[in-house]
Amino acid sequence: MRHFLDLKDFSTNTLQSILDAGLCMKAAQKSGDGHELSLSGKSVAMIFEKPSTRTRVSFEVGITQLGGTPLILSASDLQSGRGESIEDTARVLSRYVNAILIRCYKHETLLTLAKHSSVPVINALTNWSHPCQLMADLMTMIEYHGPLYGQTVAWLGDVNNVAVSWIEAAVRFDFQLRIASPQNYAPPADLMAWARANGGDIILTDDVNFAIDKVQTVVTDVWISMGADEGSRSIDFAPYQVNEKLMKSAACDAIFMHCLPARRGMEVTAEVIDGPQSAVFDEAENRLHAQKAVMLWCLEGN
Ligand code: CP
Ligand code: NVA
Repeated sequence: MRHFLDLKDFSTNTLQSILDAGLCMKAAQKSGDGHELSLSGKSVAMIFEKPSTRTRVSFEVGITQLGGTPLILSASDLQSGRGESIEDTARVLSRYVNAILIRCYKHETLLTLAKHSSVPVINALTNWSHPCQLMADLMTMIEYHGPLYGQTVAWLGDVNNVAVSWIEAAVRFDFQLRIASPQNYAPPADLMAWARANGGDIILTDDVNFAIDKVQTVVTDVWISMGADEGSRSIDFAPYQVNEKLMKSAACDAIFMHCLPARRGMEVTAEVIDGPQSAVFDEAENRLHAQKAVMLWCLEGN
């Protein structure tokens, strides 16, 4: 079963082939060639426990472009919202649809769904990770700076679900990832142990100037993710804001990325996210193409 749960589950070759397919589909669409209707006659269920703009719309449009039928299922409207087990939900949906994607709070919910589903399951964000986002981010890095091997990326701020997928991507594609965050927000030890055991070039620091020095890509995300408590985060992360002064220390052709939604004036200033180095809308656009490639890979094997 070809689930798409986390980047670490895949070989570099498999991930690269999905990225290549995404880049090809983007080029075909831009040149007006369109796509084969590879999802014709197929349905994809999309379960959302949390809000979404990009993931929901890009998957829905992507499925439609490939000739398939998307079903948007708000978790609160499903019987699972009144206590039906995720196992039974997986078994039942598997009888109707060809793939299931889920955005949920607990990563365990995703894993349980995948375990009991007889169709591919795609991680559309959990509290732990956001691999679909990374596929779009990696496509964007390739478009701006070429092959991923040896590139340099600085992640500033909260070490959240998107950061976890960045760590896994850095290991799989052999680029340097410098994570600048307060010491008490460091990545989980077991993830770092996995990264080190697999040769990852991951630098942990609380020094933003060190992290950003001559780096090719600067990336950040909200300081308070969906479902997280604010606590003292706004104070703790204030020194990690991406602003123009900081960007001057990055490489002269550095790009700024953010998965969006963004809070201007918090994790990034308006001058940076709306400035000439910002790649955030290319990145958002790439969600569409990356996700089509992920779905085709999942369904190719079934
Ligand atoms: N980046 C991202 O996943 O955006 P949405 O929450 O709008 O889907
Ligand atoms: N880290 C953010 C990503 C949103 C796409 C969150 O989980 O809210």
